[in-house]
Amino acid sequence: MSSDSVLTPQVSVLVLIPAAGSGSRFGGEIPKQFRQLAGTPVLLRVIERFFTDDVVSQIVVAVAEPLLQNVKQTEKVKFIAGGATRQESVTNAFAAADGDFDVVAVHDAVRPFFKRATFHALIDAAREHGGAFPAAPVTDTIHVVRDEVLVSTPDRVTLAAAQTPQCFRPDVLRATLARAREENFDATDEAGLAARYGFVVRAVPGDATNFKITRPEDLAFAEAHFEELSAP
Ligand code: CTP
Ligand code: MG
Repeated sequence: MSSDSVLTPQVSVLVLIPAAGSGSRFGGEIPKQFRQLAGTPVLLRVIERFFTDDVVSQIVVAVAEPLLQNVKQTEKVKFIAGGATRQESVTNAFAAADGDFDVVAVHDAVRPFFKRATFHALIDAAREHGGAFPAAPVTDTIHVVRDEVLVSTPDRVTLAAAQTPQCFRPDVLRATLARAREENFDATDEAGLAARYGFVVRAVPGDATNFKITRPEDLAFAEAHFEELSAP
């Protein structure tokens, strides 16, 4: 089946998957990215979704160091040791990639339901503008709260929740991660970082299916609605 993309098959994308987190909000013994979702670990579902996409040339997955002895390295899928923070895991994964790529995508290991058409739209936008992220509209009113007191209320129409895959031209992501390292700045996503350093980051409409498995109820929802959610 063809997708909506305008991509030529020559486009070469590197995918970085930070998967070295401990899932403290999820809890339990097994980190959430290794939990079964419809009979297969969440991380494997994510890898497979990228693996079967012709634009993807290489996938580098950052996992907790002790796991490295149990994985099989291949030319297309490499596993490397992650770091203490998500940003460090992404930096390590980027450093381990080999070859030239048109675009680098960073994707959470725990978002198994990203849409291929959105991914391709993000790749197109990153090639044109430098960076792009899937933006989900915010439905709740968001307040800034400090010390249990409401401080201010940003206009909701200016707010967007950041999903992944976040896509960048390689030079943009490289410079962004280097600057963050220099000033010891730790962020929860690369889109925000790139914008902080003056790069253009386009907001591309995200998908309601593309939620992050953060707490046990997210996995329960994913399991219960697996068929509808996993449509490409
Ligand atoms: N991640 C990582 N290395 C870290 C921390 C996080 O690779 N040191 C990854 C997680 O594995 C996940 C992604 O970053 O794929 C998104 O982070 P999040 O949902 O916050 O996962 P965790 O950090 O594992 O969960 P929590 O914040 O609840 O502890
Ligand atoms: Mg975290």
